[in-house]
Amino acid sequence: MSAHGRAIPMISKPSGPLSGEAHVPGDKSISHRALILGALSVGETRVTGLLEGQDVLDTGAAMRAFGAEVWKDGDAWVVHGFGVGGLAEPEQVIDCGNSGTGVRLIMGVMATSPITATFTGDASLNGRPMARVTDPLALFGARAYGRAGGRLPMTIVGAQMPVPVRYATPVPSAQVKSAVLLAGLNAPGETVVIEREATRDHSERMLTGFGADVSVEDSPEGRIITLKGQPELRPQTIAVPRDPSSAAFPVCAALITEGSDVLVPNIGLNPTRAGLFTTLREMGADLTYENERQEGGEPVADLRARFSPDLKGIEVPPGRAASMIDEYPVLSAVAAFAEGPTYMPGVKELRVKESDRIDAMAQGLRANGIEVEEGEDWWRVQGRGFGNVTGGGTVESRLDHRIAMSFLVFGLAARDGVRVDDGSPIATSFPIFEPLMQGLGAAVARDEA
Ligand code: S3P
Repeated sequence: MSAHGRAIPMISKPSGPLSGEAHVPGDKSISHRALILGALSVGETRVTGLLEGQDVLDTGAAMRAFGAEVWKDGDAWVVHGFGVGGLAEPEQVIDCGNSGTGVRLIMGVMATSPITATFTGDASLNGRPMARVTDPLALFGARAYGRAGGRLPMTIVGAQMPVPVRYATPVPSAQVKSAVLLAGLNAPGETVVIEREATRDHSERMLTGFGADVSVEDSPEGRIITLKGQPELRPQTIAVPRDPSSAAFPVCAALITEGSDVLVPNIGLNPTRAGLFTTLREMGADLTYENERQEGGEPVADLRARFSPDLKGIEVPPGRAASMIDEYPVLSAVAAFAEGPTYMPGVKELRVKESDRIDAMAQGLRANGIEVEEGEDWWRVQGRGFGNVTGGGTVESRLDHRIAMSFLVFGLAARDGVRVDDGSPIATSFPIFEPLMQGLGAAVARDEA
């Protein structure tokens, strides 16, 4: 059942060829950060290309609850911020919906202010671990009171006299790193985060863009990020690039749908995000980067994906996991159409996303005739080769947008298609998924039956 209303059953069927241009929405990670850093600046930040998905809208509502003004002006979103340390205490519980990024980053923002706030979310978010964020926030002097196992709903009492922190993240997580950096903004002195593996670096880049003093150093310990506390952030004009994690769906759909040729323009190819595209090329995908350029300090290209009937299963290097962590579900859907096994080690984090993504994909793929083996931090999908996948199963999306979209892509090339019990979570990150895919020629639809 959907968190935001009625479940929307959906189906996809063999179709195509897919053709045309896929204009995917703005980057979700960058959109959250643009609203948050806009709120932490004094004056007006303008954001174009903001993802208007439910996750980001929930973060906008949260920023209002802490005292920012957030409104839409034509194509742009405008944030009139309160400045670092200028947060008001919210009068209501902050509902972050489905968004782990939203709640974890916002907890970081308020943890070093002398205010109290209570956070909740949908059934998926309320089941996800928060200690990974509240542990480092406690070092600043904040206190957290949640349900057993560090689950939401949770009240955070911000530090009265915050102290800066030096913290080595125990899990590869951009959300944890970002929560600590955002908390460090309102602490005196230098806050340092050390990450063993590089995770997406949008917070570091955008903090620098807003005028914070952030330095990054590679060392044998890992990546060391140092932030000078209590800066005055200056409002910015931000053009959000399009989301590589959303681009993944039309790209993968084109690769497995006979005769397809799809262009996905203006996709950010920040190396901390682009691991899927490297992996697909290693599998033999006809995926090319056109018009490669730099925009706003980020590498950007137009992606062209063509039907690729000779994909081969591969072993995905575990060191690449952080740069494609949200793309394993759709990779596993493509892997079903490759020759031979695709082995994906070093991916324990997939078990604590919007759903347990290894379990959700494994069960759904098995229901569609694909063999999958799994362990705590690895899984292997036995590809059947193009033309040999029967499909015809019904899968559960488990309040997880990427599970729903991955199976709808899978169904485009499976003989009997696929049915997803609830496509409503797709609205959290890719509200135009259905018309966009239909526009390319994909038989993706609501199941009215
Ligand atoms: C995100 C970080 C990742 C990713 C999520 C967005 C971010 O989560 O899965 O979709 O914007 O910082 P983790 O930090 O838990 O790896």
